[in-house]
Amino acid sequence: MSDEHSKLPPDRLWQPTTGKWFAVVFGVSLAYAIVRYHLAGDVAWRHLPLFILNKATSLAAVVFVACSYLIGKIIRWHDHDKALRLVVIKFCGLTGFFMAAMHAFFSLALLRPAYYAKYFDSDGGLNLDGELAISVGVLALFFLMSPAISTLPMMPRELGGKRWKRTQRVGYLALALVLVHLVFLGLKGWLAPSGWQWGLPPISLLAALAALTPLLVKRKVEQEKRERRERSSVDN
Ligand code: HEM
Repeated sequence: MSDEHSKLPPDRLWQPTTGKWFAVVFGVSLAYAIVRYHLAGDVAWRHLPLFILNKATSLAAVVFVACSYLIGKIIRWHDHDKALRLVVIKFCGLTGFFMAAMHAFFSLALLRPAYYAKYFDSDGGLNLDGELAISVGVLALFFLMSPAISTLPMMPRELGGKRWKRTQRVGYLALALVLVHLVFLGLKGWLAPSGWQWGLPPISLLAALAALTPLLVKRKVEQEKRERRERSSVDN
């Protein structure tokens, strides 16, 4: 049933349009993880339910959070329907946050040298990259909580417009921290493309590009605003 013909509240989070968003973002992330690590790589199929699912979940989390900041800026698919656009933005932000939390649980359950040898020293402790990556990841998840909580219906009224917008902007800080998390985990692999199975980039690199995009777009928008302000003050 299409969104227009449903009798359910039009601002509900789970509806045909958001369902399609979920199917595409999570479906493509999972398919990529399977192709990159099982088919092109040599990860055994018994690791699909947690290790590979964790990779797909983490990629989808970053893509959802990034999209929540890009819809209406460079993603213009819902411009014709502002109410639907708001629902999709909220859906992407919250789904991104919940998937990031799932990724954190999955990762902590898996965190040992048998799965992540490159983040451990020979004495069984985390190495410096591993420690830095995990602590920055925890911080990123913490800062993602702020925009997620402020989507609760009473929050705009409770916080007031300016403060509410500020809590939403904390998501950019979270994305910057995700980027740092990924640099600590993946940089060495990004710089060795000869080792990419079937030439496919690692998920950490795709996620880093997804996290970087809203930060660059935000910078450009701010720059344009500043230039407009300067022009109008010169004109006056
Ligand atoms: C408690 C917080 C977190 C912990 C403990 C954690 C842990 C990890 C670990 C151990 C990996 C390596 C996974 C692998 O190589 O298969 C990883 C990768 C990754 N993390 Fe996190 N993380 C946290 C928070 C986050 C957050 C908030 C995000 C984004 C919203 C995120 C996104 C990613 C991505 C995209 C990868 C790359 C996956 C890959 O290379 O396969 N992480 N994280």
